[in-house]
Parts: sequence; C-alpha cells; structure tokens
Amino acid sequence: MKVIIEKDYTAMSNKAAEITAEVIKNNPHAVLSLPTGSTPVGCLEKLADMHKTENLNFENVSIFNMDEYVALKKDDPQGYYYFLNHYLYKHVNINLENTYCPDIENPDLEKACKEYTDLIEKKGGFDLILLGIGRDGHIAFNMPGNRLQAYTHIEQLSNETIEDNSRFFENKEDTPTRAVTLGITPILASKKILLIVNGKNKGEAVKKFLENKEITTALPISFLWLHNDVTVILDEEAATCL
Ligand code: GLP
Repeated sequence: MKVIIEKDYTAMSNKAAEITAEVIKNNPHAVLSLPTGSTPVGCLEKLADMHKTENLNFENVSIFNMDEYVALKKDDPQGYYYFLNHYLYKHVNINLENTYCPDIENPDLEKACKEYTDLIEKKGGFDLILLGIGRDGHIAFNMPGNRLQAYTHIEQLSNETIEDNSRFFENKEDTPTRAVTLGITPILASKKILLIVNGKNKGEAVKKFLENKEITTALPISFLWLHNDVTVILDEEAATCL
C-alpha cells in the first residue's frame, strides 16, 4: 500500500488526476469507475482541465458510476450520473455511450443490478477505480455491518450516511435512504485502486484503516488490504490522526 500525504485538498486532487491521467495515456481504452461526493470534485475538474490544456483523450475511455441513489430519475441533478456528467463528461471528449450507471429507473431493480454486474464483466472489469470514503469507512455504498456483498446490489444507507448526504438536499426528508452500489468484488478486481481522503472528519476512519491493518466488514475500506496496487492520497488534515 502506497500512502502519499499532500499538503491540501488541491494538491491531493492534482495528484489523483495525474495518476488517473497516466492510466488513460497508457491505455486509451481504459475502463474506470469514479466516485461522487465532495472529495472527487477537484480531481474531476483537474482531469477536465487536462483534456483542455494537454489534450488528455477520453474518446475511447469507459466510465462506470460506482453507485446511484434509488428513487431519483437518471437525470436528477442530485443523482450521481448527473454529477459525473456535470463535473467531467460534458467537459471532455468522452463518448456518452461509454458512460454507465445502474439503471435505477428499472422497476425490477434486482434485474438492473445483475445487468450492471454483467456489463462490468463484459467490459473486462476496471483498470482503475477511484474511491472516496464515508466517515464510517464505507466505500461506494457498501455500509459497515456484519457482511459485505460481492456484486452490484441494493443497499439500505445508514443513518449517519443519510445525515452526511443530506447536506446536498434542500430538506433532510428528501435524502434517499437506498442506493444501488457496486459490491466489493469488482472493486478488488480493479487493476489499480486509488483512494483519496481529505479533511479532519475522515481522520478516524483513515487511522483505523491504516494502523489496525485488520480486515473487517465493520470497516469496508479495510478490504483494500487484500489488493496489491493501492495508492492512498491524504491531505494533511486527514493524516493528522496518524
Ligand atoms: C457517498 C458515496 C461515496 C463517497 C462518500 C463520501 O457515500 N457513495 O462514494 O466516498 O459519499 O462523500 P464525500 O466525499 O462528500 O465526503
């Protein structure tokens, strides 16, 4: 596990964009999975900027959302497909046919989950997955508990996560309580894993993960110890607990 500490959010974001861009330059047909939330915004903006200034080419790149809220429409501005479109797709030359998201409008969500799993497998899995974490150490929407699911599934969000995500919604009651998310298997099958964490409020989760070196479903991020190509980029605030 490679741990890099950058001085602030901008430096963390730039480093993550640089590593992501390397993957794309080395493989113009790269398949990526990208997160949402406040953490990846700087990295996505930097990638969009690299497209403009350095001609970073997304023409044949494929991107999978790692999760999506249930009960929203695909183009809902609070949704995760919209998010990646807003911060990345509309600024680069990606072919939208190569951008994927769980089909949360499908009335048969179990079927939609299965289709998403099949699609990821058909594409050969991910070359790079960029992850953020929740305060409780969740990745994508795999919540801490006594089990983790292998493949794409519907997850009931924890109260803490609903609370954290409610900052993006006008009313707390509007915050979705369920999501469709990748399971742990395609995350660990990704050739490369890049984790970005900033801010003091993630410090505890980072400390438990990096110092305990224990793999437990109570801390989903800890499963990254099973992978042999993980880079963790922290800003100084997230690293203060170490
Ligand atoms: C949600 C997403 C995660 C993300 C987390 C943290 O739970 N499903 O992928 O890592 O939020 O979000 P933020 O970066 O806003 O702290």
